[in-house]
Amino acid sequence: MSNALRQAATRPEPAAGWPPAVRALLLHALCVPLAWVFAGGDGTSWWLAAESLLAAGGGLLFGLAPWWLPINLLFVPALALVLAADLHPGWGFGAFALMLLCYWGVGRTQVPLFFSADVAVQALLGLLPETPRPRLIDLGCGNGKVIARLAAARSDGRFHGVEYAPLPWLAGWLRCLPSGGRCSLRWGDFWTTDLSGYDVAYAYLSPVPMARLWHKAVAEMRPGTLLVSNSFAVPGVVPEAIIELEEAWAGRLYVYRIAGTRVQR
Ligand SMILES: C[S@@+](CC[C@H](N)C(=O)[O-])C[C@H]1O[C@@H](n2cnc3c(N)ncnc32)[C@H](O)[C@@H]1O
Repeated sequence: MSNALRQAATRPEPAAGWPPAVRALLLHALCVPLAWVFAGGDGTSWWLAAESLLAAGGGLLFGLAPWWLPINLLFVPALALVLAADLHPGWGFGAFALMLLCYWGVGRTQVPLFFSADVAVQALLGLLPETPRPRLIDLGCGNGKVIARLAAARSDGRFHGVEYAPLPWLAGWLRCLPSGGRCSLRWGDFWTTDLSGYDVAYAYLSPVPMARLWHKAVAEMRPGTLLVSNSFAVPGVVPEAIIELEEAWAGRLYVYRIAGTRVQR
């Protein structure tokens, strides 16, 4: 494996314009006065409704991913509701701290927290090599659900996870404690984790990091090993297999075999 390739894969991505969270805040700062004008300067409900719709539509113009749509729709009305409820400021601070601990770095990573379905874990189990002591890493492992379930089902395997957000990491760490080391979590950034020792690298991220993740996998993983991505395909790379999960909402697994793929022309 060339050093240049390895360095390119672990180098931080160049910033492409303003981060989405900043763009979203600017959007709302623009939509609040604009909605006030549209709503004729009175009637809080009309004002909030106009702000919601303007921000939801404006998100697309500001280049925000589709999953920002519900956030933009609900952000200002939810804020107004909380202010109207006249809650103790401690509640607001507590909720903010909780969100921060769960979604740490989401503005930078562009990967929110959500969990793989049980059917995805079952399908992953079938992708583990039958040879003894298979090793799998979950890149951005959330609360450790995937690795803990796999460790329970495949007692000779070693299942590792790396997670950036402190609260999910803590939950996963506690979850893996009874496994006696068969599953374990590291608190950190998976871009600095070496993938060369793994038979399978699993990722359930977002469309944003997929091209860079593919370069990292190709640079570090051994020929014949697998990169499996839940729901998000690597652009321009044909997977060896696509596994449709039984429940439609659970998505599909894109299975890429290292050194066994063709680049689309
Ligand atoms: C969609 S969740 C998936 C959780 C888990 N893998 C599962 O399938 O249930 C993605 C997780 O990746 C984490 N993440 C994103 N970028 C990361 C990075 N560079 N290093 C470590 N964790 C990261 C996020 O904090 C989030 O918890």
